[in-house]
Amino acid sequence: MKDQSPNEPSFEKKSFQIDTSALLTIIAIILLFSTAIIATLIAPHYVDRSWTAPSSSYQLQMYEFQDPDTYISNVALGGNDLQYVHHLKDGFSLLAFQESDYLKLVSAPELSKYITHQEDKTLKLTSRLLLLRTPGPEWKKELTSLHHSLQEKFTKQASDIDQPTAKVAYQILELYDPLKKEAFSHNPLEGVLQDWVDQNFTIVDQQSFYPHHQNKGVIYIKNPREYRIKSLQFADKEMLYYDPDGQPFESLKQLLNCNLDFHSRKDLIHYGEEIYAMEGCWYCHTDQTRTLIQDVVANGSDSYPAPPSSPNEYIYQKVTFLGTRRIGPDLSRTGIKRPSREWHMAHFWDPKIASQGSIMPSFKHFFNLDSNQTSSHAKMGSPNLRFEAIYQYLMTKGTRITPPTQAWWIGKDPVQTKEIIEGRKVLK
Ligand code: HEC
Repeated sequence: MKDQSPNEPSFEKKSFQIDTSALLTIIAIILLFSTAIIATLIAPHYVDRSWTAPSSSYQLQMYEFQDPDTYISNVALGGNDLQYVHHLKDGFSLLAFQESDYLKLVSAPELSKYITHQEDKTLKLTSRLLLLRTPGPEWKKELTSLHHSLQEKFTKQASDIDQPTAKVAYQILELYDPLKKEAFSHNPLEGVLQDWVDQNFTIVDQQSFYPHHQNKGVIYIKNPREYRIKSLQFADKEMLYYDPDGQPFESLKQLLNCNLDFHSRKDLIHYGEEIYAMEGCWYCHTDQTRTLIQDVVANGSDSYPAPPSSPNEYIYQKVTFLGTRRIGPDLSRTGIKRPSREWHMAHFWDPKIASQGSIMPSFKHFFNLDSNQTSSHAKMGSPNLRFEAIYQYLMTKGTRITPPTQAWWIGKDPVQTKEIIEGRKVLK
């Protein structure tokens, strides 16, 4: 038993007598830490915004238009076709309703000003939410006479140039106002890039909700059709499929949750980035066009150099895979150099098919294999979500500089690139 009386606190008292130098050290540590915290909080305000912000209005449009509002599904009934659906926000996207040789549009009189006829010299764009659909039964009479007059016109033209006449399948669609908060458009795209116009356009109503609608160089969605679905009972499964005569979608949730299996392009790109990391593509590939002559030439087209990589091309990535070795070619401009989905399908399935003597490994797990396949000459599987993700990721490479025609052109002359982006020069 210890003999400690409360009247003898000598031991405890001593422990509180901190040495002055120790005290100073503690104060110094506290000061150091708080300065570090303050510096971390304040520093970002002094970072040059041009390092991280999109560098031009063109680029801003590309990000805003391409990424969040396009949904992709590789589940289409009867084939490996992709389906693209745009989610159109109120007053956000510019839409164009354009007639062609075999596509004619009808509408109520008050909407006819939004239709760009073939003879029109300027493209009519609108930020009003309108869509196309198969005309209902109330249009039956008009359609019959329209079909008749179109066929007559065609027959006359054909006889003028001494050609045998045939019956032509004109497509006639109705332009209408969907009166919904959310709307979806079905628009099979060529590649991933949307339509682009630099001049000769008017925004009908002169009403634009976003400043970039007024910029020179506008991205628009051409002939958006309302996305409609029908359900199909298959054994005990209920499936949905695209059908122009079905029911329209009402909300984004429905689009993403249903068994059509849509993914937003943004999500696919992020998933693609993960795959790029996991599969170790960066062991063999770089993702940077350096300022060195061999890079700008190798990534350019024909005899013209490509623009070197700039930091803002990577701003939406979590990890930047600059890479260190080039066992394969640099990928920073792949979206421009190789936009073909078919090429990438063949290449990932078996690189030697697309590129003779390639040492790149094949990525067959980017495809669903046909389990019933008995033939030894394995047919190419159908591309799965992994393929779609890596493909969409690769398609951002080089296309985030500017939209298509601009980017192509820029690939040819980096000196004039800046002048175009800054609006001092106009493309001819
Ligand atoms: C073992 C090294 C290696 C790995 C790993 C690799 N590649 Fe490759 N890759 C190559 C080589 C070599 C070529 C050039 C020959 C060819 O086109 O197949 C190439 C070519 C390519 C091309 C065509 C580029 C062009 O401009 O012609 C693309 C796209 C590509 N690879 C993407 C990928 C992706 C995505 C991954 C990861 C999923 C990957 N590669 C993994 C070696 C590799």
